[in-house]
Amino acid sequence: MADPWDPAQYERFRSEREQPFHDLLALVRPRPGMRAVDLGCGTGALTLQLHQALQARETVGIDSSPSMLSQPPKAPGLRFETQDIAAFAPAEPVDLVFSNAALHWVPDHGELLPRLRAALGQAGQIAVQMPANDDHASHETARELALEHEFKRHLGGFVRRPPLHSPVQYAAWLHHLGFATQHVRLQVYTHLLDSRDEVVEWVRSTLLTDFQRRLPAPVWDRFLARYRELLLPRLPDDRPFLYTYPRILFWGQLPG
Ligand SMILES: C[S@@+](CC[C@H](N)C(=O)[O-])C[C@H]1O[C@@H](n2cnc3c(N)ncnc32)[C@H](O)[C@@H]1O
Repeated sequence: MADPWDPAQYERFRSEREQPFHDLLALVRPRPGMRAVDLGCGTGALTLQLHQALQARETVGIDSSPSMLSQPPKAPGLRFETQDIAAFAPAEPVDLVFSNAALHWVPDHGELLPRLRAALGQAGQIAVQMPANDDHASHETARELALEHEFKRHLGGFVRRPPLHSPVQYAAWLHHLGFATQHVRLQVYTHLLDSRDEVVEWVRSTLLTDFQRRLPAPVWDRFLARYRELLLPRLPDDRPFLYTYPRILFWGQLPG
């Protein structure tokens, strides 16, 4: 499948996307000389901020998209690897597994979390933020469209159901995995966009990439046009437009 991630498109809403990153970072307890990984690091711009904020000894950003990693930032102790999170298994334990807005792309969290836990050393920390906006018209419309005859044929039945569980389930998993201290919350972010048209631009750089990668180019163009046609009348024509965006944030630390 082609790589549909487009750093320029993704960066259009940079300031809106950064706030959850900072909220997640605020949950991490810095320690001297930390080794951290940033799973699904995107362009690496926020990985650099993570690395600097923690004054980490080493930070490795991991992302499966060569486009997103085409111009990674440079700093001592900071490096990037093109890799699937599903294959992540570091040779040495790390002090922090961090992931902002990426694990909702990885299936089977009941299997994933024990694997991430196994990557941590003593007093290791996990910090994860994932969008939980699947009830919004922007997401429901995409699923509905995937079932329309023309697109269903190409998508082979794919509708994109993110593997998200409830905040309560993540709290239970953290507990059972031995995270002695934890913090789990659902936070609703409110993004003021110029108009409802901007919602299409927002999801194009994230949610819709999952459809784009599966569709031949001309079919993808029709999918996007039809998505816009269906979605816009479902949203109020307010200017600015309030795009509400719930997100799950969780953090846990193992005993020292
Ligand atoms: C919404 S972006 C978030 C990027 C960055 N963490 C940030 O906060 O700006 C999601 C990133 O996850 C990456 N991604 C999605 N599935 C992945 C996987 N299975 N393995 C590695 N990276 C993945 C995408 O390539 C994309 O760069």
